[in-house]
Amino acid sequence: MKILVTGCAGMLGQAVMARLTAAHELVGIDLADGDLTDAAVVDELMDRHTPEWVLHCAAWTNVDGAESAKEEALAANGEATGHLAAACQRLAAPLTLISTDYVFDGRVGKGYVEDGIRDPVNHYGLTKARAEEHVEQMTTPWQIVRTSWLFGDGKVNFIKTIRRLLGERDTLRVVDDQEGCPTYVDDLAAVLEFLVGSQHVGVFHGTNRGAITWYTLACEVARCVGTDPGRIHPCPSSEYPTPAKRPANSELLSSRLEEAGCPDRPTWQDAVARYVARLEAGTVIFP
Ligand SMILES: NC(=O)c1ccc[n+]([C@@H]2O[C@H](COP(=O)([O-])OP(=O)(O)OC[C@H]3O[C@@H](n4cnc5c(N)ncnc54)[C@H](OP(=O)(O)O)[C@@H]3O)[C@@H](O)[C@H]2O)c1
Repeated sequence: MKILVTGCAGMLGQAVMARLTAAHELVGIDLADGDLTDAAVVDELMDRHTPEWVLHCAAWTNVDGAESAKEEALAANGEATGHLAAACQRLAAPLTLISTDYVFDGRVGKGYVEDGIRDPVNHYGLTKARAEEHVEQMTTPWQIVRTSWLFGDGKVNFIKTIRRLLGERDTLRVVDDQEGCPTYVDDLAAVLEFLVGSQHVGVFHGTNRGAITWYTLACEVARCVGTDPGRIHPCPSSEYPTPAKRPANSELLSSRLEEAGCPDRPTWQDAVARYVARLEAGTVIFP
């Protein structure tokens, strides 16, 4: 199948390009190939490549930056997805949108099912909710795949930051009152390999197994690099004020993916161990 992958140079996009290339003809595009906020650019890219499926990984992902660049973030996430949805419908190409746990307010406390009510607490979440609404209005097949707390090859991610800070400081304080599902982009790419090109349509949640706090995740990074997790201390989010609020508990429940028969997803511990091992071995693109 000929698949157009947007955001191919991003953290997830790179993992998708690596994973899906054996089974599909991939066309990767990123900002350098055209700005998806421009409908004419989207139409031209779609007409030139005539994909049979579009996997939309491109997005404005700077959660705090979105608070001070509201229009740009809304254009990059909401409007760009609207242009792609319209072009996909015109060409009868199914669209898979990657979305986020941040469309939820984080207050339910027992995890979010796929048809949970969207009620974002920050602007980034609102822009992704708009993107979801555009896709849901398509009359041709679509998928929305919500994921969370991504890590993998890319310039910045939480695990790399903690590993670096453990090398620079004696002790660290990490927030322990936000809960979510850490997800290795390589494992999400495997989920997407299962979904893209399939008959499964609708909203899915794709993460590694298990929900934890940033503090627990940081402790696991310490264990994986062979240092004492006792050097890391839990603290409340109020110690690290950020421009964007974060949902307190945005665990995503993935029952619909499991019912669809997606192969078993690794636990977050397994995923962190594999990624840190790669960092330690120096085999990542952005060490
Ligand atoms: N990162 C997370 O923790 C996380 C969590 C939940 C969901 N997600 C979702 O997962 C997806 C992938 O995230 P990621 O972390 O892999 O993102 P990323 O590394 O930031 O990559 C996104 C790519 O999209 C490109 N892009 C941005 N605006 C564009 C535009 N207007 N036109 C064309 N390309 C544009 C970016 O280019 P530039 O870099 O040049 O701007 C970048 O290469 C996104 O949909 C994101 O919302 C991410």
